[in-house]
Amino acid sequence: MYAPIPPLLLPSSFLLPPKSSMFLPRKFGYTLPNYYCRKERISVMASKAEKEEEKRKKQTLKVTKVDPKPRKGMASVAVNLLEKAFVCLLAADQKGHYYLSGNYAPVQHETPPCSDLRIHGSLPECLNGVFLRVGPNPKFVPVAGYNWIDGDGMIHGLRIKDGKPTYLSRYVKTSRFKQEEYFGRAKFMKIGDLRGLLGFVTILILRLRTVLKVVDVSYGRGTGNTALVYHNGLLLALSEEDKPYVVKVLEDGDLQTLGILDYDKKLSHPFTAHPKIDPLTDEMFTFGYSLSPPYLTYRVISQDGVMQDPVPISITSPVIMHDFAITENYAIFMDLPLYIQPEEMVKGKFVSSFHATKRARIGVLPRYAKDEHTIRWFDLPSCYMTHNANAWEENDEVVLFTCRLESPDLEMLSGPVEEEIGNSKSELYEMRFNLKTGITSQKQLSVPSVDFPRINQSYSGRKQQYVYCTVGNSKIKGIVKFDLQIEPEAGKTMLEVGGNVQGIFELGPRRYGSEAIFVPCQPGVTSDEDDGYLIFFVHDENNGKSEVNVIDAKTMSAEPVAVVELPSRVPYGFHALFLNEEELQKHQAETNH
Ligand SMILES: [Fe+2]
Repeated sequence: MYAPIPPLLLPSSFLLPPKSSMFLPRKFGYTLPNYYCRKERISVMASKAEKEEEKRKKQTLKVTKVDPKPRKGMASVAVNLLEKAFVCLLAADQKGHYYLSGNYAPVQHETPPCSDLRIHGSLPECLNGVFLRVGPNPKFVPVAGYNWIDGDGMIHGLRIKDGKPTYLSRYVKTSRFKQEEYFGRAKFMKIGDLRGLLGFVTILILRLRTVLKVVDVSYGRGTGNTALVYHNGLLLALSEEDKPYVVKVLEDGDLQTLGILDYDKKLSHPFTAHPKIDPLTDEMFTFGYSLSPPYLTYRVISQDGVMQDPVPISITSPVIMHDFAITENYAIFMDLPLYIQPEEMVKGKFVSSFHATKRARIGVLPRYAKDEHTIRWFDLPSCYMTHNANAWEENDEVVLFTCRLESPDLEMLSGPVEEEIGNSKSELYEMRFNLKTGITSQKQLSVPSVDFPRINQSYSGRKQQYVYCTVGNSKIKGIVKFDLQIEPEAGKTMLEVGGNVQGIFELGPRRYGSEAIFVPCQPGVTSDEDDGYLIFFVHDENNGKSEVNVIDAKTMSAEPVAVVELPSRVPYGFHALFLNEEELQKHQAETNH
């Protein structure tokens, strides 16, 4: 699945010294006695500069161009017919897809950068940069089943410069996307099909297409639809079954998929959609889970993008490990009983299921460990955790703030009707793991349903106070702000302001939102932690229109600071990211080579 990929070949001119090398002596403070000596010294300096430039480019340009080689022809047609016959036989009673209807339905076209947008209020100066959110937007109608997480990744962006917004949307041009576009139809396996006999047939059909070279899986088959992360000047679109896709933000905010990042071929396993960046060291901590032992692999990536050796971590079964966390000294892994069990499809079941009778465990590993020997495992009552807000250390304890739920069910995202996602009733929890005594404790901090927790990222891995979550189960009805230093009020049955709930921004009837990103007025930790804004997409089902809302994170006022009307519908989606102007400038410098 992850065969070696030829590196991107760069034009040799990229490795030439800058034409301005004649100015190097002054830059480096040299005094040159005569022409010959000067020529020689310049040559030495140019050589050094060349080496440094070469080293820098080696560190930054690790993008592998995605150029799959699919093949039309008799084999392709024959497998299509075979697939059609099986689908008629095994999926005839399918009743439609809720997650392809209403505002879950994909938009048919990308939107090129579009300015002259109507703004109510004004966009604060600290929002200079780009706000991005990714989500599933299938280009082609599924052959049979569809799960919300199956769709091709599409990024919706709002470039903001000096208070003026520009909206756009672009697909993440994955290998899978490019090949389906070539065929003009869906060709790759969908998670929504992985149930019962149809599941086995779906896997078989993909194998057949691969063996017959109808499709090319050498670049992976991910969608890039889940989350975005910025590290070492690169913007990555992630889906946890694949490697990162590198996306470039152009000056006008437009997006261009550059290719895959495999860290000089060091990355040979899937890469989580939720890596963590330490704001003090600028290192990235990540992991991947897979179907074969050891099922989990941990990685550290240095500030300048160098991936360290893999740290395999043995767990007993393949599980869906969606998120993890870091503290100043530890990495925290979640071995929770949401199993991946293809063999269960024999019994007519879905490929993944939650086992409420099985234990849940949290693993705490020193974050620079070279192997798993020093990992400490802590047992918990059975549960699942979707997303973590943050974690830190207090005395002998590691403290984790997470969105916890009793019984997740991924199959519900394949359903024909709206259902509360996994009957999730996700709640904010505080969990403590004592490294000295081995004692675990947990405390419920909210009533259902909250998720997509975000913080001021300058505090990632360190003790902090405020968490911003989405409110709602299937659709997002608002944004809530928690104060972690205040105890929750007892006896609550619904989310209300009071106790640790500092504020709730309600979107109103039939208006639904998406993950809200906290953007500080001042980056860093010198001003108040909550001195900043929350930015998120909103869709109004009353009129079918979408917008970007900006609200004051400190006051959580019901009156938005700014609302930007958008020219196109933005379907409901997954995770978001904000890059400020400084990060954007660095990103553009790194990707302009
Ligand atoms: Fe996620």
